[in-house]
Amino acid sequence: MGKPWAQQYVPNTAIERWLDQRLPLVRFMHDAVGAGYPVPKNLNYFWNFGVLAGVFLMIQIVTGVVLAMHYSANEAVAFGSVEHIMRDVNFGWLIRYLHMNGASFFFIVVYVHIFRGLYYGSYKAPREMIWMLGVVIMLLMMATAFMGYVLPWGQMSFWGATVITGLFSAIPVVGESIQTLLLGAPFVGNPALNKFFSLHFLLPFVILGVVVLHIWALHIPGRTTRRASTSKVRPTPCRSTPIIPRRTCSASSWR
Ligand code: HEM
Repeated sequence: MGKPWAQQYVPNTAIERWLDQRLPLVRFMHDAVGAGYPVPKNLNYFWNFGVLAGVFLMIQIVTGVVLAMHYSANEAVAFGSVEHIMRDVNFGWLIRYLHMNGASFFFIVVYVHIFRGLYYGSYKAPREMIWMLGVVIMLLMMATAFMGYVLPWGQMSFWGATVITGLFSAIPVVGESIQTLLLGAPFVGNPALNKFFSLHFLLPFVILGVVVLHIWALHIPGRTTRRASTSKVRPTPCRSTPIIPRRTCSASSWR
């Protein structure tokens, strides 16, 4: 990896040394995100939203996996299985509401995260790859949320699926074939429900993988710095900033 800022990984215990010689996973993590990673000292709270988005992704995955233990993706029983989760499963209502409202908050957090990127120009060179991976994440999130919305199999789900897949049918010549491919049939029914459940389960893990690449790509150029001219705080010499390790301070490109 050889990042200019990366300190050499030194396995301390016998177990760490044993593992390092056979599967240097810890070394890999250390080199990608580990100690010595310089963080500009004038970041503001907007830089918390990437990590917050990660927290929401984990909440969605954990609550989603629990919901999937009680949900049934069949048109005859899907709606009833959601009722069952709400009424019979211990704390099922809580898990479901965490998942439903968590999805909305996930989007709010990611919108703020994108706004930060736009406002501070984090999308510019050398961070284009971070941004492009972010766009992929956003598209995957939209697809995942849409398919999740269909799963309770209520009226809103049915018409949501009809309208959104119907958009594809507006494409000239091949549109209707694409809609049929998406639904697994020429109508919104059991094949679509099964397909959507399968993909709704799978895609969050794909998102997780792209998030790993997103953060990996971030750790090559490092975080965007707010320019000194936009900061009201005067830069202080490294020696007088005890909270920030001196090494981080001196590596900061902001000064
Ligand atoms: C699941 C969704 C996402 C997660 C978990 C995530 C996570 C993160 C994290 C942890 C960081 C570093 C901390 C920070 O700067 O806030 C980051 C940085 C960044 N993200 Fe995301 N992100 C997500 C979606 C997106 C999207 C949709 C975009 C844009 C289309 C985006 C663009 C960026 C950019 C440009 C940076 C670099 C910021 C800098 O240079 O300081 N991210 N992301």
